[in-house]
Amino acid sequence: MIVITAPTSAIGRLLVNGLLGRGAPLRLVVRDAERLAPEVRERVEVVVGSHGDAEVIDRACRGAEAVFWLAPGDPAAPSPEAAYLDFTRPACAAFVRHGVRRVVGISALGRGTPMADRAGLVTASLAMDDLIAGSGVPYRAVVCPSFMHNLLHQAGAIREQGVISLMTDPDLRCPTVATRDIAATAARLLLDDSWQGAGEVACLGPEDLSPDDMARIVSEVLGSRVGYRQVRGTALKERLMGFGTSEPMAQAMVDMFAAKNLGLDNAEPRTAESTTPTTFRQWCEDVLRPAVRGG
Ligand SMILES: NC(=O)c1ccc[n+]([C@@H]2O[C@H](COP(=O)([O-])OP(=O)(O)OC[C@H]3O[C@@H](n4cnc5c(N)ncnc54)[C@H](OP(=O)(O)O)[C@@H]3O)[C@@H](O)[C@H]2O)c1
Repeated sequence: MIVITAPTSAIGRLLVNGLLGRGAPLRLVVRDAERLAPEVRERVEVVVGSHGDAEVIDRACRGAEAVFWLAPGDPAAPSPEAAYLDFTRPACAAFVRHGVRRVVGISALGRGTPMADRAGLVTASLAMDDLIAGSGVPYRAVVCPSFMHNLLHQAGAIREQGVISLMTDPDLRCPTVATRDIAATAARLLLDDSWQGAGEVACLGPEDLSPDDMARIVSEVLGSRVGYRQVRGTALKERLMGFGTSEPMAQAMVDMFAAKNLGLDNAEPRTAESTTPTTFRQWCEDVLRPAVRGG
């Protein structure tokens, strides 16, 4: 039995479909079962509730061989430590209590870099990995740069104003990854019973791109000019808090982007294993263009 947390997340949805396609028995932990597609619901066990809740995650882990772990990083949380560490603590106890044989989690690039301890959300996510590994359960953190998917939040601005805005320096080339490739990596690790201990598996996408490169590719795919506008940390923080993000979580987001501008995502060596297949152009054609045109 494989337990999937956050099955309605961008990665979780793709992971569930991939594992069902390979005949794996699944137990999904979901706050609202109505958010699962009917054809998924009829093929899985469902545990209703938040995977941050001790009773819920304990019930979910009974008899489980493997667990997919995704901390939602709740924007309204009182701190990044609450969003990642406190959220994960009950699960660590459940992994140990029920003898789970392997856990695959979603996390971030940056371990071992000089800015890793002041990288906001990433610092908390890396501490979450240490917490899970410290429980003694065999653990792989799938460590990622920014997801291509994040641009979907800007589909309206791309369509209406022809602009992408981020805090990233316009000419800083960084890896970026498609959620479909993260899900494929997680599926492979969940199904593989040969690994032990704790470690990271990086998903870097096939190329490093700057925001200016990305705006050019988006323009080519959409057939209309899209520019890049860099936003300051203060403006980003204000915007996030306007959407209900707590002050500490907004500051942690700003600190993360500041660390990325100093090279947080550029230290991981690109290898055959860490190079995932989906190009940014392919993702724009498959996902961004329909979202921009459909809105
Ligand atoms: N975005 C990036 O660039 C990036 C890069 C590296 C690592 N990461 C990590 O990737 C993870 C996913 O981030 P994302 O923003 O892409 O996620 P997402 O797709 O927006 O999914 C968030 C999920 O969390 C669930 N959720 C929200 N609050 C919850 C709660 N209190 N209890 C239980 N479930 C809850 C939501 O489910 P329902 O609302 O349906 O209940 C949803 O399935 C995070 O851990 C983040 O740190 C992200």
